[in-house]
Amino acid sequence: MDTTIDTKQPATQLLYSISGLIEGLSIGDALAALAGRFPAQVLFSTSFSIEDQVIAHHILAAQLPVSIFTLDTGRLFPETYSVWSATNEKYAARIKAYYPDRQLLERFLDEKGPNAFYESVANRKECCHIRKVEPLKRALKGQAVWVTGLRAEHSPERKDHRTLEWDEGNQVLKYNPLLHWDTTAVRTYIDEHNVPYNPLHDKGFVSIGCQPCTRAVKAGEDFRAGRWWWEDNSKKECGLHTAS
Ligand code: ADX
Ligand code: SF4
Repeated sequence: MDTTIDTKQPATQLLYSISGLIEGLSIGDALAALAGRFPAQVLFSTSFSIEDQVIAHHILAAQLPVSIFTLDTGRLFPETYSVWSATNEKYAARIKAYYPDRQLLERFLDEKGPNAFYESVANRKECCHIRKVEPLKRALKGQAVWVTGLRAEHSPERKDHRTLEWDEGNQVLKYNPLLHWDTTAVRTYIDEHNVPYNPLHDKGFVSIGCQPCTRAVKAGEDFRAGRWWWEDNSKKECGLHTAS
């Protein structure tokens, strides 16, 4: 069986056939089917958010052959490293980390300083590009399926995503199994399966990214209000899920 993605095959045809493969399956069965169809080419990216921990549990508790990686920006919350560590410990796992390119990061810091992201949207996007988008591209190069914890509830733009979609920028299929889960479903799963999660979620943090760019949300604010809160809403993506 050919297990690599033929990028000449129209993406729609590939999407159609892989949608058929996983249609109606539970998340665990769908991940297993994808891993069977694309051996060693299915990867899950985790930011250790509460939704990502749901997916991590599906993979690690059942020992599915799906690799897990994180993009360690170097600016994460201490609590995020604690969840990472607790996850390694609970499941005897080793989650691979990708780091920013040293030269790109050193040049950016030399030119603009450590907190340049507060000064302009361009600086913020450059920081996100160096610390997240470029390492993500490296992680996904030559892979077939990228599994994410994207949820539609997080922002209006995210409602445009599909559970299974084609990521043109990274040339991979993207599987977002929790796209239509709501917060209650996520919380219930975490509690029922005793999955370690970031305690910041109990302190008003909804979507958790880098420490200098994330704050708790107040009652009535939307889910993404705590990310890059000094920018206007239309700019609030770091490029992981918008690159084409
Ligand atoms: S972001 O684009 O605003 O940063 P968000 O925090 O909503 O993304 O997370 C959505 C999904 O993107 C996560 O479920 C995860 O799959 C992926 N992701 C986000 N940040 C990281 C990270 N630092 N490392 C790995 N994956 C990440
Ligand atoms: Fe840089 Fe903030 Fe983007 Fe993290 S979220 S990569 S610190 S701009």
